[in-house]
Amino acid sequence: ATYKIGYFVGSLASRSINRTLSKALIKLAPEELEFTEIPIKDLPLYSYDYDADFPPEGRALKEAIEDSDGILFVSPEYNRSIPGALKNAIDWGSRPWGTNSFSRKPTGIIGASPGGIGTAVMQSSMRSVLSFLDAPQLNAPEAYIKFNADVFGEDGDVRDESTAKFLRHYMEEYGAFVQRVLAANAPGHI
Ligand code: FNR
Repeated sequence: ATYKIGYFVGSLASRSINRTLSKALIKLAPEELEFTEIPIKDLPLYSYDYDADFPPEGRALKEAIEDSDGILFVSPEYNRSIPGALKNAIDWGSRPWGTNSFSRKPTGIIGASPGGIGTAVMQSSMRSVLSFLDAPQLNAPEAYIKFNADVFGEDGDVRDESTAKFLRHYMEEYGAFVQRVLAANAPGHI
């Protein structure tokens, strides 16, 4: 079987290290996982004024989430929290009220920064948001990536075998987690 993974890159920067990380993760992931990026850069800033007549960008985002078997967030940490562009996209996906597209979706959170904190505080913020949105999260392994340009090629090549091994393991565990949550969500399962 194959599983559709929708992924968010939480950075709009043209030379985003998190986009580079996303390429590496896709290369190292099990073959059963098929990745599609869910774009966030053209979304207006959300307000509930849009709920009565949800715009095409918002509908497309919700459909992309709902069509995915699992969601992966690959994001930087901005000022010890979630980048505004990514939080905006999550707000869009959560609304209109009663149509939260993240409900019961298996999720993974990973991110890179040049510093040693490795997006740990962003990931902690994300867990609060995703818990509120009833989205199960891969709890372990955790992955706080200190980005090193000698290790990560821009095309997604990982030039250090222990880093590649760690990320491969992360993606294997993520794939197994997605399958477990899908099984638990299946009709007839208590
Ligand atoms: C940062 N950066 C950063 N890094 C970090 O580890 N913790 C933080 O809280 C912040 N805060 C922060 C705020 C803002 C507004 C910017 C622009 C940057 C540095 C950040 O990790 C670095 O710029 C990365 O390159 C961002 O990832 P992308 O955008 O390259 O994927």
